[in-house]
Amino acid sequence: MKVTVVGAGNVGATCADVLATREIANEIVLLDIKEGFAEGKALDIWQTAPINLYDSRTVGSTNDYSRTADSDVVVITSGLPRKPGMSRDDLIATNAGIVKTVTENVVKYSPNAIIIVVSNPLDVMTYCAYLNANMPSSRVFGMAGVLDTARYRAFLAEELNVSPKDIQAVLMGGHGDTMVPLPRYTTVGGIPVTELIDEARLNEIIERTKFGGGEIVKLLGTSAWYAPGAAAAQMVEAVVRDQKRIFPVCAWLQGEYGYSDIYLGVPVVLGKNGIEKIIELQLNDAEKALLADSAEAVKSVMDVLDNMNETA
Ligand code: LAC
Repeated sequence: MKVTVVGAGNVGATCADVLATREIANEIVLLDIKEGFAEGKALDIWQTAPINLYDSRTVGSTNDYSRTADSDVVVITSGLPRKPGMSRDDLIATNAGIVKTVTENVVKYSPNAIIIVVSNPLDVMTYCAYLNANMPSSRVFGMAGVLDTARYRAFLAEELNVSPKDIQAVLMGGHGDTMVPLPRYTTVGGIPVTELIDEARLNEIIERTKFGGGEIVKLLGTSAWYAPGAAAAQMVEAVVRDQKRIFPVCAWLQGEYGYSDIYLGVPVVLGKNGIEKIIELQLNDAEKALLADSAEAVKSVMDVLDNMNETA
């Protein structure tokens, strides 16, 4: 299996490192526009192979997409990260141009790839990739829910002093402050979380989750990379190993949950064909209202992109 990661910044390099260390692909191409940068990162990752005892080969390329030819999966991480005080949406103008060019180049050399978008603002950059890929939407989707549920699950594990492995959760909506963690679909070793944590405390954890990315931006002065990189690699693994994992993924909706023509986080089955099924939960009225708010927030940024494209 061949996997390309476009963007050798912190998230892209971490993703490539996880893909290599866990032998998720035997060939990994890391590509960046900055001269020598991807080559340097790839060389460093490759030199961990004798230490970490694996044989996946990572190579770097400065913007030469012919090196990415015939990739099975391509992860797009290109674009600027957030700085303190910025929302993910502030990145749209710069990152839309970057994601468009990257997608066109990716598709030229890997017309049968599955594309996983990680660039922010996530839901709208996934839409941007879809508009430029000319591929079925089952093959163009975004990474957000795996990261956001990981944050939620880590906070819950800490609160309950239990293994994060035992915490399962669903989270829906956009990758932003309106994301919708769903306590009704959160379990700890099969036990509903609502039996273990009182409502007020659970709400605090949900609020912390919604701003989990911002918490790190404030601490570091730039956005997170270990968890985002690992989350993208886990989605790649589900595809290349045809695992049929159930993950919250930013997917193109055509009537599901009553929405159409919008990219939004929903639970899906992920396998070798990409999104193999969108799972429709029976949301209650309160959950539907939260999802509607989130969809509205995503749609308004999608409209900004559509207007940019019309005036371009
Ligand atoms: C975050 C950025 C990567 O949530 O969106 O950390």
